[in-house]
Amino acid sequence: MKTIKTQVAIIGAGPSGLLLGQLLAKQGIDNIILERVTGDYVLGRIRAGILEQGFVNLVREAGVDARMDAEGEIHDGFEIAINGECTYINLKELTDGQVVVCYGQVEITRDLMEARAAAGLQTYYEASEVQPLDVKSGQPAITFTHGGEQYRLECDYIAGCDGFHGVSRKTIPSDVRQEYERIYPFGWLGVMSDTPPVSPELIYCRHERGFALASRRSATRSRYYIQVPLSDRVEDWPDEVFWDEFKTRLPPDAAARLVTGPSIEKSIAPLRSFVCEPMQYGRLFLVGDAAHIVPPTGAKGLNLAASDVATLYRIMTRVYRDNDPDCITQYSDIALRRVWNGERFSWWMSNMLHDFRGTENEFFSRMAESELRYYLASEAGQKVIAEQYVGLPYEALK
Ligand code: APR
Ligand code: PHB
Repeated sequence: MKTIKTQVAIIGAGPSGLLLGQLLAKQGIDNIILERVTGDYVLGRIRAGILEQGFVNLVREAGVDARMDAEGEIHDGFEIAINGECTYINLKELTDGQVVVCYGQVEITRDLMEARAAAGLQTYYEASEVQPLDVKSGQPAITFTHGGEQYRLECDYIAGCDGFHGVSRKTIPSDVRQEYERIYPFGWLGVMSDTPPVSPELIYCRHERGFALASRRSATRSRYYIQVPLSDRVEDWPDEVFWDEFKTRLPPDAAARLVTGPSIEKSIAPLRSFVCEPMQYGRLFLVGDAAHIVPPTGAKGLNLAASDVATLYRIMTRVYRDNDPDCITQYSDIALRRVWNGERFSWWMSNMLHDFRGTENEFFSRMAESELRYYLASEAGQKVIAEQYVGLPYEALK
């Protein structure tokens, strides 16, 4: 077995692992990433890209902001429609100037990958049998296989950035872990098409036939979603059937602008809320999807991963720069406060915008519509939505 060493071992080369690795390297903290699949496979994942200001600031701090600034779109707000009746949530006015940036997660991941390679930082792609060891000790390690050879990676700390299906969360004993979950009784059918988007910003639609979302990747590439039953398959939705349904759920003026075309990607994803507590165990820290999942309705998945990264990066900087190892005990509590806030907003947006008549009675639907109308009808209500959408400030270390 070949022994290698680093200061922070990172499991997973998704956005969480790559962003953390870049930020740590900027502080001179040595790190190695172990990734199960190839880089191309990671880049093949279709994911949302609505970036909070906190995320944008981190990407800038990591020195990987050039393409985001050149190609990302600044969105001052978004529409919420109830059966075609639109209310504009003016993020910029309601939050004293805060906005969001629309820039695909794949692009962020690509930029981080290229920066990591350019900096000569070590990433083991196609690493298998990754297994954290001795995480409660002062000398944790990870064994793994790569290129047919067995390795032992000795480190000071392990960042589990390995997503919902990774190995890190399971390393915390089941009698220590507390998991909270809600599975939603519907899915999202997503379609990508090289057609001009119906709107320069996003439109979230509550409609009697079900939820729809008009999003975008660029001025020439659209990303659209409709709520579908969990029993549906992609084959049930040929392009023309999708376009007709999507058009029906859009507000009339957007529907009139809709340009249809062949789908270049089509898939159905389930919706889940999930949180694991605690988010650390000894010298193992859970980051991003490894610890929590949100329904995409609030565009919080990537942004909650980023706030975990921000907290862990600042803790690691204090450990190595200020020789303050005890500050690691702050991670889980700080991370979870923001995670639960993001979980609540994503759960609320999902309840407000989707059709639950398959599982809840008509009274629930009327209550949800009435609550959404109440929030949209006042500046105070719109401000609550806006401050959550742009993201609350990151909590400082004690
Ligand atoms: N060993 C090594 N790598 C692993 C293992 C393992 N045992 N298990 C999973 N991985 C890798 C996956 O292949 C993936 O590349 O960890 C990475 C986890 O990446 P993500 O699932 O994208 O999670 P994260 O980086 O936290 O990003 C969160 O992704 O799912 C979206 O909405 C979510 O936008 C959010 C973002
Ligand atoms: C997307 O563009 O894929 C997207 C945007 C906002 C969301 C969900 C998905 O809330």
